Amino acid sequence: MRIFYGILAFLVATNPSARAIQARSDKEQPQTVVSGTAVQSVVPVQAQLSSGMGPSSSASSSSGAGAANSAFFPLGPNVMCSFLPRDFLDCKDPIDHRENVTAQNEKKHGCLRFGGSTYEDVEHTSVVCTVFADIDCFGDRTFLRDGVPCVRYTDHYFVTTLIYSMLLGFLGMDRFCLGQTGTAVGKLLTMGGVGVWWIIDVILLITNNLLPEDGSNWNPYV
Ligand SMILES: *[C@@H]1O[C@H](CO)[C@@H](O)[C@H](O)[C@H]1NC(C)=O
Repeated sequence: MRIFYGILAFLVATNPSARAIQARSDKEQPQTVVSGTAVQSVVPVQAQLSSGMGPSSSASSSSGAGAANSAFFPLGPNVMCSFLPRDFLDCKDPIDHRENVTAQNEKKHGCLRFGGSTYEDVEHTSVVCTVFADIDCFGDRTFLRDGVPCVRYTDHYFVTTLIYSMLLGFLGMDRFCLGQTGTAVGKLLTMGGVGVWWIIDVILLITNNLLPEDGSNWNPYV
């Protein structure tokens, strides 16, 4: 049993997707650090500026500081809140309007539909973002950030589904997993359309025409 766990741990450690996650977090790390130092490096400037105005507006003061000085001073230490990179923001998920155009027009943002695999297929929308409480910036701390893709990921894996489709297609397992229960039952009762539907669904999967019912995208990892 211990040997088994050892092998499992080795496999997890050498798993390419685990390494990909590692690499990505390595890549993101310096970015955060750089923006962090960028914010810190402007603090002395604010200290200089505010030295004439009195001690009340110190560099470490939070939300109120930006709004208190009424006019935006472009060369000042505070950036506009809406210019802050995503690292400093807490953004909501895009709203799902479920193809209701009226609701989208009312709200002015949100997605009519989710999914799509190429850039042109995917809708883009704005989401509501709020700056983290400890970050100092100028202007509204809650605003709309544009250009967020309307995609979401649930537990659907392409390779897993393809294996289901090839090995258990005559039981409709692929369609059950994708949430297409109606056609799945039909496929189960006809034993995969006497083999024809079985093959057709494998082809549909490979050509990206058989997708999760809830409009979610394939998960990138197997
Ligand atoms: C669409 O959204 C509007 C506003 O939220 C709502 O009044 C209406 O009932 C919705 N229509 C459908 C078909 O759900």
